[in-house]
Amino acid sequence: MSLLARANELAGCGNPVIHLEVGEPDFDTPQPIAEAGIQAICDGITRYTDAQGDPELRQAICDFYGKVAGIEINPSRVFITAGASGGLLLLTALLINPGENLLMTDPGYPCNRHFLSSFNAEGLLVPVSAENNYQRTPGLVDQHWTENTRGILVASPANPTGAVLSRDDIEGLLEALNRRRGFVISDEIYQGLVYQNLLYQDQDAPSALSVTQDALIVNSFSKYFGMTGWRLGWVVVPETLVQDLAKLAQNLFICPSAISQRAAIAAFSSDALDIMQSQRKALQARRDYLVSELKTLGFGIGEIPAGAFYVYARLPDGSPRAVDFCSRLLEEEYVAITPGTDFGFHEAGDHVRISYARDISELELAVERIGAFLT
Ligand SMILES: Cc1ncc(COP(=O)(O)O)c(C=O)c1O
Repeated sequence: MSLLARANELAGCGNPVIHLEVGEPDFDTPQPIAEAGIQAICDGITRYTDAQGDPELRQAICDFYGKVAGIEINPSRVFITAGASGGLLLLTALLINPGENLLMTDPGYPCNRHFLSSFNAEGLLVPVSAENNYQRTPGLVDQHWTENTRGILVASPANPTGAVLSRDDIEGLLEALNRRRGFVISDEIYQGLVYQNLLYQDQDAPSALSVTQDALIVNSFSKYFGMTGWRLGWVVVPETLVQDLAKLAQNLFICPSAISQRAAIAAFSSDALDIMQSQRKALQARRDYLVSELKTLGFGIGEIPAGAFYVYARLPDGSPRAVDFCSRLLEEEYVAITPGTDFGFHEAGDHVRISYARDISELELAVERIGAFLT
């Protein structure tokens, strides 16, 4: 965030800053969704909704799972939340006691472990690296499990690596968890943003729900649906947790934004989905361009990241450490990228995250400037 603040400060003084530190798509919210939001205000849909969320939206989410993945879910198991963040907070509050921990990857999305520490629990970081495509293997679960571990938190596609769990990966992890009576929270916020790739020819990032109905799913309208500022997401939980989660949701949030919920129903219209699919194609072209240029510049990238909109790259040999690298790149060439240290500790000083949620013309300019900086 301090890097972002400095980037904005430099841009405010008229410097031509390129923002590749961003965690949100550059596309506007698709028009059918925006129009539905405006209509909701005009129609007076501005009051509290059910704590669990608008029944029509919950049904639309279930229909979507049915349509794209053949997964059947009862809407009674779906909670609409204030983004994936609201969902992760609810699940942490419900499931983890002080002193307990969840296994999560290093590198990983940092707020997830901060949710745990805010309840005096802990995110136990499991180092993963490019050599094994940032995979969270059953062996790692066995190796890092402690007597206070309750389960694992996975993200697929992941931030900052873009790595995806295949169906086999998920099955393997669940087997390891079943042996220990642990649970899985699956953060699927980048679902839909998966690109063609030699390893994942079917472009699939399966939901953990397709393997077990016991998985705790966190998802969001932020990324694929282009609604970061609307603050809307959802969780899917087993029926046994519904009552307790409803109590928590009522007390902590009363309900999610009524206007955003109405707008989100339109996210599943065919017009909106067509727009999102074409955005996905644009993101794939950007990824392919950026990965190949970064490799030419000497950055180390393992497997091509299968999803999300980030490249997590090892700095070229002889570079300064990540924080220094990012700070100097910003000050000297006005390109903002994120140091690996924002995502954990494991080899973090040797890595940076570069977001390709920017137009290809900006990526081209950024590549030119990074090249100049390196020479
Ligand atoms: C992996 C992951 N999970 C959760 C979130 C939170 O997203 P939101 O609260 O906007 O849905 C993010 C945001 O970048 C993320 O990258």
